[in-house]
Amino acid sequence: MENNFEVVIAADALRQRVRELGAEISRDYAGRDLVLVSVLKGAFVFLADLVREITVPVALDFMAITRYGAGRRGGAVRIEKDLDLAIAGRDVLVIEDIVDTGLTLGYLMKNLGARDPASLAVCTLLDRRARRLTKVPLRYVGFEVPDRFLVGYGLDHRELLRN
Ligand code: IMP
Ligand code: MG
Repeated sequence: MENNFEVVIAADALRQRVRELGAEISRDYAGRDLVLVSVLKGAFVFLADLVREITVPVALDFMAITRYGAGRRGGAVRIEKDLDLAIAGRDVLVIEDIVDTGLTLGYLMKNLGARDPASLAVCTLLDRRARRLTKVPLRYVGFEVPDRFLVGYGLDHRELLRN
């Protein structure tokens, strides 16, 4: 770790929390038809660790979306890569790295909800609640984080520092 970065969440705390989330999800989705949907790219490290803590059968799929248009409130979202799997009648859990304004997730939930999943919920590693602009229900939250820009464990600054 370069010494001009401050550790906000220690590695063992992170590992421990991911383990707990995996156990909770395994308990809650036992006997269901679980599909994890992840939005590229920020959640890829969290997802990779989380799936290995999930003990029930689970399918995975990815979406890529871009937000465009000016302003934090304005702008639209475009799907760059859609799901490969059909999710109608299945239990969908969206895996996110961080929920900030909630705008991206809000759009995604509307889009996925329109495909008639049996259930639709969100698991986010980080929740920066102070900046929320739109209400999005979060079933699983790893950590609440302060209003500071974070990097590492998948989160980038201009595509770098995800490692
Ligand atoms: P929202 O639509 O404002 O909730 O945007 C959430 C997305 O912005 C996340 O999935 C991240 O890709 C990105 N993001 C938000 N905060 C940070 C941060 O502190 N570091 C890196 N990426 C972030
Ligand atoms: Mg992201």
